Amino acid sequence: MRKAIQYEYGGPEVLRIIEADRPEPGPGEVLVRVRAASVNFGETKLRTGVAKAGPLPFTLGSDLSGTVEATGPGASRFQPGDEVYGVRFVGTYAEYVAVQEDGLALKPDVLDHVGAAALPVAGLTALAAVEEARCGPGQRILIHAAAGGVGHLAVQLAKEKGAFVLATARAAKHDFLAGLGADEVVDYTTTDFTQAVRDVDVVFDLVGGAYGPRSLDSLRPGGLLLSAVLDPGLDENEAEKRGMRYKWVSLRPTSSELEKLTDLVTRGKLRPHVERTYPLEELTDAHRAADAGRVTGKLVVTV
Ligand SMILES: NC(=O)c1ccc[n+]([C@@H]2O[C@H](COP(=O)([O-])OP(=O)(O)OC[C@H]3O[C@@H](n4cnc5c(N)ncnc54)[C@H](OP(=O)(O)O)[C@@H]3O)[C@@H](O)[C@H]2O)c1
Repeated sequence: MRKAIQYEYGGPEVLRIIEADRPEPGPGEVLVRVRAASVNFGETKLRTGVAKAGPLPFTLGSDLSGTVEATGPGASRFQPGDEVYGVRFVGTYAEYVAVQEDGLALKPDVLDHVGAAALPVAGLTALAAVEEARCGPGQRILIHAAAGGVGHLAVQLAKEKGAFVLATARAAKHDFLAGLGADEVVDYTTTDFTQAVRDVDVVFDLVGGAYGPRSLDSLRPGGLLLSAVLDPGLDENEAEKRGMRYKWVSLRPTSSELEKLTDLVTRGKLRPHVERTYPLEELTDAHRAADAGRVTGKLVVTV
């Protein structure tokens, strides 16, 4: 089978495609013939070694959509031929991958493999944030990097819960976000969001660094700052000192959480947007585009 691999940390050029043996599904695992896997921003940090994915060499890729080829000992949830999507921490940029069955769910019928591969990591992160925020009618939430992978799904999930959604993105992406239901969009390249947005109940920060402490300026007293980034720029103490709350959120990579996403897309409440697909052989180009940080929705690699 073909799979991506990197023997060293570095830029997108360290990603190679090699021929390798098919893995065998271990206990509780299923072997999936991967059809698509998406690019997630956090992979840059794994690829460069800023965050650790395990010893070199390794294969990146955290979401997948494909077809069950075989099941390992004790795995009973899926049958060969089932179309599934889900999460594996790393290793999905490959023709075949063995995945714990609890990291998978049946692929929503309304999505093809490209659409389904765009959903797991970004969608589960957006879901975790919107649930933590307890979004509902009368509540105002500001979402940073709203046009990106996690952000564009968080906008839709917060709207579905009835919240008033404010978002930051450059002007070229405002129509896209309005189409997803954002009520107000701030062009952060020309406007200081801390001046334009005040007294919101929740900020979901997907940028980090200085955006963390600055986001407190947009919150009402007692408001909640959620961050999903590696460098949130502040801690609980700093938020508490200003009479606000802070929490780091992360995805819950389980079948039952994936099934919530399946339900939402099946009811037409959630749609991943795929900016572009790349064949596995062009993974380097996909990573170059992701590194630039300007993606609208998701980039997907077809295998
Ligand atoms: N904790 C977890 O479980 C988890 C899971 C997934 C992702 N994450 C993290 O969440 C973050 C977002 O990931 P992602 O995959 O959604 O990223 P992404 O798709 O690469 O985000 C790209 C978007 O970011 C926007 N952006 C960049 N700088 C901005 C700024 N200063 N203000 C507003 N928007 C800005 C860009 O829009 P413009 O062109 O308008 O700038 C672009 O649309 C990453 O740090 C990632 O590591 C965490």
